[in-house]
Amino acid sequence: MAKQYALVTGAAGFIGSRLTEKLIERGRNVIALDCFLPDLYSSDVKRGRWERLTGKEEGELIKIEFDLRKDDFARLGSYEISSVFNEAAMPGLIQDWGKFQPYYDCNISALNRLLEFVRTKSIESFVHASTSSVYGKNAVGKENQELRPTSPYGVSKLAAEKLLLAYLEWHSTPVRILRYFSVYGPNQRPDMAYAKIIENLKQGNEFVIHGDGEQRRSNTFIDDIVEATLLSENQANPGDVSKSALTINSASSFH
Ligand SMILES: NC(=O)c1ccc[n+]([C@@H]2O[C@H](COP(=O)([O-])OP(=O)(O)OC[C@H]3O[C@@H](n4cnc5c(N)ncnc54)[C@H](O)[C@@H]3O)[C@@H](O)[C@H]2O)c1
Repeated sequence: MAKQYALVTGAAGFIGSRLTEKLIERGRNVIALDCFLPDLYSSDVKRGRWERLTGKEEGELIKIEFDLRKDDFARLGSYEISSVFNEAAMPGLIQDWGKFQPYYDCNISALNRLLEFVRTKSIESFVHASTSSVYGKNAVGKENQELRPTSPYGVSKLAAEKLLLAYLEWHSTPVRILRYFSVYGPNQRPDMAYAKIIENLKQGNEFVIHGDGEQRRSNTFIDDIVEATLLSENQANPGDVSKSALTINSASSFH
């Protein structure tokens, strides 16, 4: 039988890099893919994570610099891909609706290209990283609340969910969708509050909190989110939205 690979997109990112490490630790062969998007935070940080990713004898790693928005999927065509973990995205909660384009390009159009490629493969699972930002301004609370995204990011990620479910309907693509709540931990994104608070503490600077200081947000530790993502590959069903994240998040989140 030909060697089987898990494809991890966004593998130089905060979550994708940890997920890649865990897959390799478990002896899985991985194709890691990323384009080092410079938009939200420095691509050097991403390249640093990428350099640290290494394969093992039991757990081959193939790293491919690849832009899902425009590169030719024929470059991946020769590999037997049995599973996809889609972590690639343009995150960030800017409210400037004049800057929607990168969210559209990376979170919707690139996903459409990836799903078209995947249609040519017989994969068992496609796990997609969605976000609590699909719920609305305050990413906190129950997972059955109304979907009311208020940012370009949240809107594009909700559209991505609908696109995935349409592929399940039309092409039986075995999609599973996890709505991650804000993730923190080693190698976290420098644009997120945790990293900024720690940096300010280290420098002895003040950290400005907007609002009345009473706002709440759910948070999840990186290894819990990675575990939920790995579990959902086999334990969630195609079309499930957020089930594994629900269990892990309620077990480990704090406010
Ligand atoms: N970190 C969080 O708190 C959080 C919360 C909710 C959801 N998410 C979701 O989890 C996933 C991973 O987030 P993260 O925090 O690791 O973000 P990240 O920015 O660190 O990682 C995303 C990676 O995707 C890559 N990428 C973007 N567009 C690409 C393209 N067109 N082609 C190839 N690679 C591309 C980027 O270069 C980056 O390395 C995203 O889908 C995000 O929406 C993250």
